[in-house]
Amino acid sequence: MNKILVTGGCGYIGAHTIVDLIENGFEPVSIDNNSRSSTSLLAGIKEITGVAVKNYKVDLANFDDTYAVFQENTDIKGIIHFAAYKAVGESVEQPLMYYENNLFSLINVLKCAKEFEVPHFIFSSSCTVYGSPDTIPVTEDSPIQPAESPYGATKQMGEQIVRDATQSSDFKSVLLRYFNPVGAHPSALIGELPLGKPQNLVPAITQTAVGKIKELTVFGDDYDTRDGSCVRDYVHVCDIAHAHTLALQLLMENKNAAACEVYNLGTGNGVSVLEAIHAFEKVSDVKLNYKIGPRRPGDIVAIYANNSLAKEKLKWDPKYSLDEMMATAWKWQLKLQDDEALHNNVNFQMN
Ligand code: UD1
Repeated sequence: MNKILVTGGCGYIGAHTIVDLIENGFEPVSIDNNSRSSTSLLAGIKEITGVAVKNYKVDLANFDDTYAVFQENTDIKGIIHFAAYKAVGESVEQPLMYYENNLFSLINVLKCAKEFEVPHFIFSSSCTVYGSPDTIPVTEDSPIQPAESPYGATKQMGEQIVRDATQSSDFKSVLLRYFNPVGAHPSALIGELPLGKPQNLVPAITQTAVGKIKELTVFGDDYDTRDGSCVRDYVHVCDIAHAHTLALQLLMENKNAAACEVYNLGTGNGVSVLEAIHAFEKVSDVKLNYKIGPRRPGDIVAIYANNSLAKEKLKWDPKYSLDEMMATAWKWQLKLQDDEALHNNVNFQMN
């Protein structure tokens, strides 16, 4: 079996990718310091797949600790690098923390990849590299715009670092530019665990629906779009996860045309904030408490993917509809509520 190192394997996209890797015959191992994630998702992975995945609780920004994991696993055949901070607002407040964490960890992993001759490397990138695009949908050749936030800058720099490292090494790489990953595994055994008040739309919707958030604010309805709210390309996290397996297989089967390739991962459908809310209301049968508020600084008006390249070369075929994205996100939120009630109950009994 091919052993694959997944950094950030306890995180939202990392955990879903581990499930997909196992289902496709790979042997994933995780490195995650759990600073922004929980090992609880490993339990969910075990329930879904029957496989107990090992996690090294290591900070990738520490080279020696990272190196030790590679020394213990000299048979790693590929690396999928998810581990990074991802909150846009926080990155504006604490830029150095973002550069330090996201770039040091990437550089350390790449140094180890070179030293231990790991042949394949997949990097989590983002549509944020396109900034505010002049034309949509964006293709992989659309211009890279100045980053809107330090978080975005770490993704742009990260891409460049991987490209340059690929040039000077024997490994091959793929950069995957995610649009807006949402939803949860259909089993509701793994999903997104936002820290504090969620900044992203779909967890904000589901938390409003259960009353954790009193009222959802739609950030602006006076944009030049069909209903005035911003347009994004929401894509199910399981579809995103499967693209990583396909990218690894592409490299392993030598079907890549260039040493470093880049792919957009979006469905190609632009969906407005109000349309997303209405899709949620339809599938959950919950009337959402929302109001229209001011625009959020830094938001772009509209972006969605041209995904032809991923479809053609990776044979990627995103399967989940917007309704399914909302339905699985809702099922996961309800599961979290049940778990919380259970934990509160246990605490109560213990007291
Ligand atoms: C942003 C980043 C993206 C990053 C992602 C992860 C940019 C341009 N995009 O995506 O790269 O991977 O965060 O954190 O930097 N909205 C509301 N009310 C809310 C929350 C959101 O109306 O309470 C709206 C936003 O204005 C936006 C849409 O919902 O139009 C999606 O927002 P969000 O889920 O935060 O994702 P992005 O900002 O698109």
